[in-house]
Amino acid sequence: MQDRARMIAGNWKMNNGAAATVSFFEKLGSWLSADETGKGAAAAGKSGRIEIVVAPPFTSLAAAVAAKKSEYIGIAAQNAHFEPKGAFTGEISLQMLEEAGCKYVILGHSERRHVFGETDDLLQKKLDSTLGSKLLPIFCAGELLEERESGDTERVLERQLSIALANAAAADAAKKLTIAYEPVWAIGTGKVASNDDAQGACSFIRSFIGQKFGQEAAQKIRILYGGSVKPENSAGILSQKDIDGLLIGGASVEAESFARIIATAFGA
Ligand code: PGA
Repeated sequence: MQDRARMIAGNWKMNNGAAATVSFFEKLGSWLSADETGKGAAAAGKSGRIEIVVAPPFTSLAAAVAAKKSEYIGIAAQNAHFEPKGAFTGEISLQMLEEAGCKYVILGHSERRHVFGETDDLLQKKLDSTLGSKLLPIFCAGELLEERESGDTERVLERQLSIALANAAAADAAKKLTIAYEPVWAIGTGKVASNDDAQGACSFIRSFIGQKFGQEAAQKIRILYGGSVKPENSAGILSQKDIDGLLIGGASVEAESFARIIATAFGA
């Protein structure tokens, strides 16, 4: 078994206001403390074998930080601006997220890239600023359906990662960075990548990191898969050797299905 701690991360997107956030953590907390499987997950969390991460919308961050209780549950923001402050209406800085109690920030999610037009160059700035802050980035990369069909998956991953990581150091890759492979065609569509396809892309990402930053970084970096993960398919994906965890959208919004996915992630 690999020695990288697993990460099970839920990206709520624009779901769960503050009241729903409190009720989510009440349910998750009672599962972790009272249910037999949940107690196993809590023990895995306490011993550092798994880390649970939840990324609520900005206005629910304070409620999540107050309600989460456990140290092994980290709170992530879904996005951030690269400047520390200034005239950027509607934006939130990394320092504000740090002050709000976040540990992680998701960058480059496909909805940010394809719905809100975030470019590789913008994401490089965001990643550079995050690596210079106290927050830890969960950086998403992945190809569109037409790119997969034309055999361009690896070229796209290489382009996204080499631009984003142009200024990063080996120590950043080894100690701070988590990468999420999220094929765009699998996000919110119900079409999960096959275990082999997910493993193939994650293994490509690990070799890319190895070539750029050396073997130590390649062995330490955590690589997640995201795209239509459900309690029914999570164990198969997690059994792949280069997949260290999951970034879950729809199935993370309700505590019950998120807990069922967590249950497949420890000891597996
Ligand atoms: P999904 O989203 O699990 O709803 O497909 C994944 C993601 O966007 O991270």
